[in-house]
Amino acid sequence: MSSGKSTILVTGGAGYIGSHTVLALKQAGYEVVILDNLVYGHQDLVEKVLQVELVIGDTSDRALLDELFNTRNIGAVMHFSAYAYVGESVTDPAKYYRNNVLGTLTLLEAMLAASVKKFVFSSTCATYGVPEVVPIPENHPQNPINPYGATKLMVERILSDFDVAYDFKSVRFRYFNAAGAHPNGLLGEDHNPETHLIPLVLLTAFGKRESISIFGTDYPTPDGTCIRDYIHVSDLADAHVLGLEYLLKGGDSEVFNLGNGSGFSVREVIAAAEQVTGLNIPIQECDRRPGDPPSLIGSGEKARKILGWQPQYPEIKDIVTHAWQWHQQRHK
Ligand SMILES: NC(=O)c1ccc[n+]([C@@H]2O[C@H](COP(=O)([O-])OP(=O)(O)OC[C@H]3O[C@@H](n4cnc5c(N)ncnc54)[C@H](O)[C@@H]3O)[C@@H](O)[C@H]2O)c1
Repeated sequence: MSSGKSTILVTGGAGYIGSHTVLALKQAGYEVVILDNLVYGHQDLVEKVLQVELVIGDTSDRALLDELFNTRNIGAVMHFSAYAYVGESVTDPAKYYRNNVLGTLTLLEAMLAASVKKFVFSSTCATYGVPEVVPIPENHPQNPINPYGATKLMVERILSDFDVAYDFKSVRFRYFNAAGAHPNGLLGEDHNPETHLIPLVLLTAFGKRESISIFGTDYPTPDGTCIRDYIHVSDLADAHVLGLEYLLKGGDSEVFNLGNGSGFSVREVIAAAEQVTGLNIPIQECDRRPGDPPSLIGSGEKARKILGWQPQYPEIKDIVTHAWQWHQQRHK
């Protein structure tokens, strides 16, 4: 039975953050259609856990998008789909500009043609580049230092221009480090290849990797390792529902950081993982990687104030515990 709420098109809904948001949307009473090409998404999770319609296709397929908008009562779009490997974006930028910028532009044009003008966009702290101040506020200059960050900044600029020209309203979320898993243990992070610290640490705990590399132990931080702002994926999902409702109520275009305003060092994350798993996690100390700032922390004050967002799981122990529950059931 329809809830009377409009249908939300979620691109990349079979991926990590998208899947958690689809579940939150469902729980808030929305109808959801996922568009995902399954290059990185997980069909099994959509079928078993999310149980919403999955359209297997690409955001660059204009005919498919037109059909979707013409046959569904879509009121807004949440756009998670993108490529997000920073290193690959440096060696193969064409792949990133094509998918993240052109793919998004095709989607935006299809939305305009269908007069759907509400859009929630997954941007990133990588648009800021090397921070001049931490915690980073939303009005910090945006000078990305890799093509991945540049693609996201380009889309942000397209969205600003679309607002002026076409009255197209968007919420742009700049996430810090998405981490953790749904507390129910049924959804979580399963990237292949995996590059994020917490899953790598837990895969090491599992014995699926020999050791965890620490890149740089001489940074100007209390224990010499890099500090990052880890934000629980369920808190990100909640923010997306709030951002959507803000737009559906007629809110103006806005940009919000999604961060906890505090961070944890690499060594602190490994220590938390040893505590949660009760296992010894071998480390390997390596040289710094180029382009890694010592500390990346985002102020989430604006999202708290305007959207009423209240992260439930700011503690690293909760984040790692939920990720561990997920990995245990995913890899058993
Ligand atoms: N994970 C993080 O920490 C983080 C931080 C900042 C921003 N982001 C952004 O958040 C979004 C989601 O990240 P994630 O970690 O969930 O990534 P993910 O790879 O798990 O999910 C992305 C999904 O998009 C799909 N996809 C990619 N290109 C597509 C296309 N052209 N058409 C249809 N589907 C396509 C993939 O199959 C995948 O299921 C991305 O836009 C990413 O840039 C993520």
